[in-house]
Amino acid sequence: MGPDRAPTHSSLDRAQQRIPLFRVSMPESVMDPLREVLMSGFIGEGPRVAAFELALRPWVGTEEVLALNSGTSALHLALRLARIGPGDEVISTPFTCVATNLTILHSGARIVWADIDPASGNIDPGDIARKITPRTRAIMVVHWGGQPCDLVAIQGIAAEFGLAVIEDAGHALGARYRSRPIGCHSDFVCFSFQAVKTMTTGDGGALTCRDPGDRERGRLLRWYGLDRQQRLVKGIDDDSIDIIEAGDKLHMNDICATIGLEQLRHLTRNLARMRFNAHSYDEAFNGLSSVIPPARLPGHESSHWLYTVRVRDLATFRSAMDHAGIMTSQVHVRNDIYHVFRDFAADLPGVDTFSCEAVCIPVGWWLSDADRRRVITEVQAFDSRTRCSVAVGEPCASC
Ligand SMILES: Cc1ncc(COP(=O)(O)O)c(C=O)c1O
Repeated sequence: MGPDRAPTHSSLDRAQQRIPLFRVSMPESVMDPLREVLMSGFIGEGPRVAAFELALRPWVGTEEVLALNSGTSALHLALRLARIGPGDEVISTPFTCVATNLTILHSGARIVWADIDPASGNIDPGDIARKITPRTRAIMVVHWGGQPCDLVAIQGIAAEFGLAVIEDAGHALGARYRSRPIGCHSDFVCFSFQAVKTMTTGDGGALTCRDPGDRERGRLLRWYGLDRQQRLVKGIDDDSIDIIEAGDKLHMNDICATIGLEQLRHLTRNLARMRFNAHSYDEAFNGLSSVIPPARLPGHESSHWLYTVRVRDLATFRSAMDHAGIMTSQVHVRNDIYHVFRDFAADLPGVDTFSCEAVCIPVGWWLSDADRRRVITEVQAFDSRTRCSVAVGEPCASC
């Protein structure tokens, strides 16, 4: 490395032999197509975005997909397409990236928190049902770590009360529910291709819509409300193309789409490695007493973006892992503690439990066999040092 070059995260991690929680996946093979598009004279939303949308279809299980400039933009657009606004209520989970809930605030709607199941980190359908009021318009769900929520129960509630379901699938590209990809189960599904997601376009996102009419409206709203295809055909100064509804600037560009197209070629392999790591952990941690692996349900196939364990003494666990060179994090902070959400305070015992006990350990495609074995050995060693006959989550006088 030359003297002027700052060390990259990956070279720092390797030098310190630390196992990182996240790593950017960027194949060298992206350089040729990227150079080509950068020098092509056209870097806006064009043919590569269209090709990326086409290539995404099998991954999200629908043709009705729009490539956007972030997952946050996908959430904005979904709320807009669902016609959520002032006076409405949206039921949501606080355990997520703030983007999930800030976009609801921006829509003008009130947030009503539903509790989560601490075994999975996912929203509890029973609590959703309890939180319905005459003002409820939508349910926002997040597939924590990539493990699908109970969509059958959630869709059932939505159908009974005539509500839109918006899935924040920021963690969940590649996950499947009842053998079909996450992306084709709800009115709107929002994906993020931000830097450390399993698939990144630098920044980027996608929205799928159940209704082709929503997709078409979204296609216009992602670019000011103008029909970009028409403009490309008729010319940019053609004034016969009207703006009927005020849009925004949410579209993906050809640079990001070029990265995305190359990334998709590696997605199957990366997901398979993450699945293998996660299943190895599930097996190795089954039966431990002070470290509890995530609950698995038949038909809920995770993307395994995160592997979340629950431990009785979070601080001691995190310090033991840190000492062993294994990075850990809760990844997101419960959103209801932030001042902007102060008006929506609620009792959420599942969120309390998850905040005190849950933590993520490295599970990504970058783990070598030795890394995976080291994580398993260190977690098992921690468990045998801190063994307790009282289950995690239950009060224990001696721990
Ligand atoms: C669950 C979830 N939702 C939304 C987002 C926002 O996505 P983006 O950063 O692409 O805007 C993220 C981003 O990290 C996320 O994890």
